[in-house]
Amino acid sequence: MAERVEVMLTEKEVDDRIQAIGEQISRDYAGRQVHLVCVLKGGSFFMCELAKRITVPVSLDFMSVSSYGSDTKSSGVIKIVKDLDESLKDKDVIVVEDIVDSGRTLSYLLKMLQGRGPRSMALCTLLDKPERRVVDVHVDYTGFQIPDEFVVGYGLDYDQRYRNLPYIGVVKFD
Ligand code: IMP
Ligand code: MG
Repeated sequence: MAERVEVMLTEKEVDDRIQAIGEQISRDYAGRQVHLVCVLKGGSFFMCELAKRITVPVSLDFMSVSSYGSDTKSSGVIKIVKDLDESLKDKDVIVVEDIVDSGRTLSYLLKMLQGRGPRSMALCTLLDKPERRVVDVHVDYTGFQIPDEFVVGYGLDYDQRYRNLPYIGVVKFD
């Protein structure tokens, strides 16, 4: 079966939007330092591009989580595969994600991180599929709301491939 990727959002559209979010965050956090928390691996491309466009002081940390169980849909209960290196205590944290889908994983993760005593916590996602939401999650910064299609690129994978595409695409099978 042939597989191809159709462009949904061009590199320029994504870059322009990230620039705008970076400017918005710089205004909202004027006079403060933001601590960006990246959820690996998907959020990494977005976080690096976003960090370059934020003009207030920035620190970064990374974590990796996996869902319990072998269901195709995430259970929401997550296991920390790699924890953050630094404490969140008294920091202005922004969790940076690639996509919010059902919201199960994030809702669990945000509650857990909230328990670590940050001064504030916000959520920034490149993509949001609101139609798919099962658990309510408050998103503070959204790149794009997209329809319910499986997308790749800019950190998002299909079977670990396509993360490196500089645009957002939809995998098509001919
Ligand atoms: P959920 O919000 O708990 O359902 O899980 C969201 C996670 O599922 C994301 O962080 C992605 O890793 C993955 N995911 C959801 N939708 C897509 C997609 O369209 N393409 C690639 N990965 C996706
Ligand atoms: Mg993710």
